[in-house]
Amino acid sequence: MCGIVGYIGDKNCVPILINGLKRLEYRGYDSAGIAVIFDHNSQIVKNKGKVSLLEDKLESLHLFSNLGIGHTRWATHGIPNELNAHPHFNSEKNLYVIHNGIIENYQTLKKGLQKLGYEFITQTDSEVLPHLIDSFLKKGNSLFKSVQLSLNEVEGTYGIAVVYEKEPDKIIAARKGSPLVLGIGENENFVASDVSAILSHTKQIVYLEDGDIIQVFKDHFSAKTILDKDIEKEIHEITMTLDEIDKGGYSHFMLKEIMEQPESVRNSMRGRILFDEGTSKLGGLENVAEALAASNRIIISACGTSWHAGLVGKYMLEQFTRIPTEVEYASEFRYRNPIINKGDTIFFISQSGETADTLASLKESKMRGALALGICNVVGSSIARESNAGVYTHAGPEIGVASTKAFTSQLVVLSLITLLIARKKYMSIVDGKSIAEELSKIPDKIAEILKLNDQIEEIAEVFKEAKNFLYLGRGYNFPVALEGALKLKEISYIHAEGYPAAEMKHGPIALIDENMPAVFIAPKDSTYDKIISNIQEVKARRGKIIAVASQCDNEIDKIVDYTIKIPDTIRILMPLLTVIPLQLLAYHIAVKKGLNVDQPRNLAKSVTVE
Ligand code: F6R
Repeated sequence: MCGIVGYIGDKNCVPILINGLKRLEYRGYDSAGIAVIFDHNSQIVKNKGKVSLLEDKLESLHLFSNLGIGHTRWATHGIPNELNAHPHFNSEKNLYVIHNGIIENYQTLKKGLQKLGYEFITQTDSEVLPHLIDSFLKKGNSLFKSVQLSLNEVEGTYGIAVVYEKEPDKIIAARKGSPLVLGIGENENFVASDVSAILSHTKQIVYLEDGDIIQVFKDHFSAKTILDKDIEKEIHEITMTLDEIDKGGYSHFMLKEIMEQPESVRNSMRGRILFDEGTSKLGGLENVAEALAASNRIIISACGTSWHAGLVGKYMLEQFTRIPTEVEYASEFRYRNPIINKGDTIFFISQSGETADTLASLKESKMRGALALGICNVVGSSIARESNAGVYTHAGPEIGVASTKAFTSQLVVLSLITLLIARKKYMSIVDGKSIAEELSKIPDKIAEILKLNDQIEEIAEVFKEAKNFLYLGRGYNFPVALEGALKLKEISYIHAEGYPAAEMKHGPIALIDENMPAVFIAPKDSTYDKIISNIQEVKARRGKIIAVASQCDNEIDKIVDYTIKIPDTIRILMPLLTVIPLQLLAYHIAVKKGLNVDQPRNLAKSVTVE
């Protein structure tokens, strides 16, 4: 979604801001802009479209400045155009604000400001901020105080950075519901919505909490809350390297991330399996493990791919722990006045840890006294910090907008949580050990499936012009069918539906003809015979069939058009294998259609607005 970067120091901020914005491109955006302050003067440059266009514009201006802010915007209020792009400014054009989030009461604030004579030139909610701050400056307040007072009038979410010609020694930054970090350098400091924007300059990071406001000078900073309480902020040393963020020789981040999965899932289980005891050790859950095992009910709240992982988690938890488990779309959960009882545990699964709906459902659940546990990939993210306890997935940074390695790491963590609870309840050590053993073999099995890349690319060539796809699976592979369909639609723009295979005859079968490919997830398990019947039903209607099947299955090839053969594992872990060919299929179809795989249209990596 929107990205923020700011610099104050001795260097020219322009290339630093541009490089920072480029690092944030993966979040998805539609316009970009920067504002710089120099010699009690300022300059703003914005445009619709890519950061590279902004860079071209800036080249001819030869700007040099030690203080500036930059932004990538993903439109929420007002169309994506140059006018609506950030930074926004006051009428004198000497105060500049960049803003992530949504000002919910902007209409009211705008009317009040218009009465005072302020003129608005954009359609955005964000434009109220420079005018509101300006109104407090005009009453004789400092910039810091003016921003602080303004934020007290704002309802909604924000991560903001503000610079002002008349106080050219500082950036003011604040957050509520939208991530923001401060990067500490030598005689230079940075602000950013995401550490990746500033990681090439510093690894010393301060995470802002909701309600924090900071004054950032080139050689120090100070922090308060917007209610003017003094606060101490801790500096964290980041271990993530830039290499981890780069494409690593692959043509797209998505392919790199698919190929990384043997390693990323290994990282997710590293040091967490207790082979001798047939259970797991999850440091983040140690203090709550007993309460977790004693839960009367588990709820999993998430969005998109993380929701699909949650659905697999439900199958795992109910089969092995016998705790009733419900999976909720966070957006529905937060608004439908959910029943939350004493003894309920609620997991919030989020790759980014910043998804607005998931975060809001977490806050609501905590408020009602539930044990709120996070499963996040991004360390220090809002959901990770707001949860009572939790587990990091350790998949490493996921840059491609379509989630791949985060999903498989979420599945690993869910299986470890299942082991942890189940062993405290009904699972024998023998069964625990066999699951633990099988889990440890998953990385090598994924590596084996990835060797089928060329074969899957050939299948993609055959189906790249299809207009619709059906994905069908049963049991643990039903959520995988949903995930396969989501992957295809989000990056190839081909309409795709995921269904439990048996549901097909209750409606979707009407769609089947020779132009409708159906992807069956059909490993040899207890539902195999049933899924073969479903395959026959599609075949009888001349549908084209791609099957993800077990290596040992020699019969299925006789019925289906294309088979992708994968190694076997136990049912609980099957989704970790069956999803891999579906990720590759979606990837290759999208590439063959010439589409922007890493930044699909209309999508953002981190959905920090509703
Ligand atoms: C799909 C995808 C989205 C996210 C969803 C939740 O490939 O990436 O569906 O899974 O927006 O995001 P997180 O997991 O960051 O909460």
